[in-house]
Amino acid sequence: MKFYITTPIYYVNADPHIGHCYTTIAADCLSRYHRITGKDVFFLTGTDEHGDKIALAAEKKGISVKQFTDEMSGMFKKMWEKIGISYTRFIRTTEEQHINTVKTVFKKLMDKGDIYLGTYSGYYCTPCEFFIPKAKLEENNPVCPDCGRSVQVLKENSYFFSLSKYEKPLLKYLEDNPEMIQPPFRIDEVKNFISQGLNDLSITRQGAIWGIQSPTPEKYSVYVWFDALLNYLTAVDYTDNGTTNKYWPPDVQLIGKDILRFHAIIWPAMLMALGLPLPRMIFAHGWWTIDSQKISKSKGNIIKPLELIDRFGVDGFRYFLLREVPFGLDGEYSDEKFIKRFNSDLANDLGNLVNRTLNLVEKLFNGVIPGLYLSTEMENLIDTVMVNVEHFMNKANFSDALVEIWKLITQLNKLLDTEKPWNSSVDSAKQTISQCIAGIYLISLLVYPFIPETTRKIHVMFNIDFSENEIMLNKKNLTFLNGRKIGKREILFMRIKK
Ligand code: MSP
Repeated sequence: MKFYITTPIYYVNADPHIGHCYTTIAADCLSRYHRITGKDVFFLTGTDEHGDKIALAAEKKGISVKQFTDEMSGMFKKMWEKIGISYTRFIRTTEEQHINTVKTVFKKLMDKGDIYLGTYSGYYCTPCEFFIPKAKLEENNPVCPDCGRSVQVLKENSYFFSLSKYEKPLLKYLEDNPEMIQPPFRIDEVKNFISQGLNDLSITRQGAIWGIQSPTPEKYSVYVWFDALLNYLTAVDYTDNGTTNKYWPPDVQLIGKDILRFHAIIWPAMLMALGLPLPRMIFAHGWWTIDSQKISKSKGNIIKPLELIDRFGVDGFRYFLLREVPFGLDGEYSDEKFIKRFNSDLANDLGNLVNRTLNLVEKLFNGVIPGLYLSTEMENLIDTVMVNVEHFMNKANFSDALVEIWKLITQLNKLLDTEKPWNSSVDSAKQTISQCIAGIYLISLLVYPFIPETTRKIHVMFNIDFSENEIMLNKKNLTFLNGRKIGKREILFMRIKK
C-alpha cells in the first residue's frame, strides 16, 4: 500500500515558473489522491544545485554559490508552500546524504567494472548539461541540437559509465514492460533511440567548478545528470550495502518530455547496473507554450505563477493546469482560456451549485440540513464517477478525472433546475436539497487532490471540522450531515471580468 512519487529536481539558476509548478502540482494531486484512498505516500521533490551554470549564475549575482543555492532553493520551497504542495521530502543535491549516495554508487559501479577511465573527445552544452554525439551536430555549425546555443569543445580524460552494456537488457525490459513509459505514444521514441545504439556515457568533468568530487585518484567532478538522477535513491536511504527503505521502487516518476531520455534510458541503465528494481511508471508530460514556443527563462516568455495566483487564487491556478490540457500533450497558454475555464467550471458550475444549495438550506430549513437521501439514479452516477476517477488517476489522466467529477456537478445543478425546491412541497424540497448536500460533500472529497483549499472551504461551510489527515475517499456514512446546522457561507469563486 505504499506509493512513491517523484518530480524532477529543479535547477536553481532561475525562479520557479509555470513549467515547474505544472509537474509539481500534478505530483501533489496524485499524492493527495493516493493518500485519501489509504496509501502510505512518499512524495519527493527538490532542487538540482550542481553544474557550471549554477556557479555562473551565483557569480553574476556576486554572491557565493552556497548563499545562492540556499536562497534559490528557498524560493522553490516558498512557492510550494504557497500552492499547497504536500511533499514528504525536499531534497537538495548539495546535502551530505546525497553526496554520500553519489560517491557510494560511483564506487560500487567502478568495483563492478561498469565505470572505467577513458578519454572524452567531443562537444558539451552547458545550459543543457549534455554531451553531444558527433552525429547530432551539423557540420560547420556546432550548436546544441536541443537549445540551439553554442557548444563547448572538450577533450579530456574522463570516467565512463558503460551504458552500451545495457542497450539490449533495456530494450528487452521495455518490450516486456511497455507500461513503464507513459503516455504510451512515447515508448517508440525511447526504443528507437536505444536501437540506434547507445554510447558509453562520460560521467566526470575535469574543469567543472561546482560539483560532487568523484571518488577517484583524480579530482574530477561528477557529471550533473549522474549526480541528479541519484537523488531518487538518496531519498529512500540508499546504503553502502545497496539497500533502501520500503518505498523503493518509485510508483510514478513525473517529468517533462525534454528530459525523457535521461529518465527512460540512462536512469534505468544505472538501476540495472546496481541490481535494483526499475520504476513502475515514468510519465513525460508536455510543455506549456506561448505561440508554440516552450515557456522558459531562456526564451524570455516566462509566465509568473504569483501573478496568476493573485488573479485566480491557488485553486484556480491548480485547476487550470490540471484541467485545460490532457496530461502528456503540449498546451498553449492564454489568458482568455484561463478566464473561460475559471468562470465556466469553477464559478458557474461548482461555485453556483454550492452557493445555491446552501442558500436554500438557509432559506427553507433555517440553516439545518434537512435529512439524507440519494436516489438510486444518483447513487449509480456516484458509483460510476468514483470508478472512473480511479481509472483515470491510475493513468495520471487528470483532465478526464475532472470531467468525470463535473458530471456529478452538472447533474446536481440540473436537479435543482428541474425540481425547483424553492417552489415545491416541503417533502420534495427536503429530498432535493439533502441529495445536493450529500452530492456536494462527495464532490468536496473528489476534488480535494486537485483543489484542496476549496474542499476546506466547503467543509467549513458545512460546519465540519476540517482535518486533512482524516479525509478518506469513501462514500459510506454520510449520516453525520443529517440535521447539522451549516456554517457561514462564502463565495467560492468570484467570476472574473476580462
Ligand atoms: N534539473 C533537471 C532535472 C533533473 S531530475 C533528476 C531539470 N531541471 S529544470 O528545472 O530545467 O526542469 C525541470 C522540469 O520542468 C522539466 O521536467 C521540464 O520539462 C519542466 N518544464 C520546464 N519548462 C516547462 C514548460 N514550459 N512546460 C512544462 N514543463 C516544463 O531539467
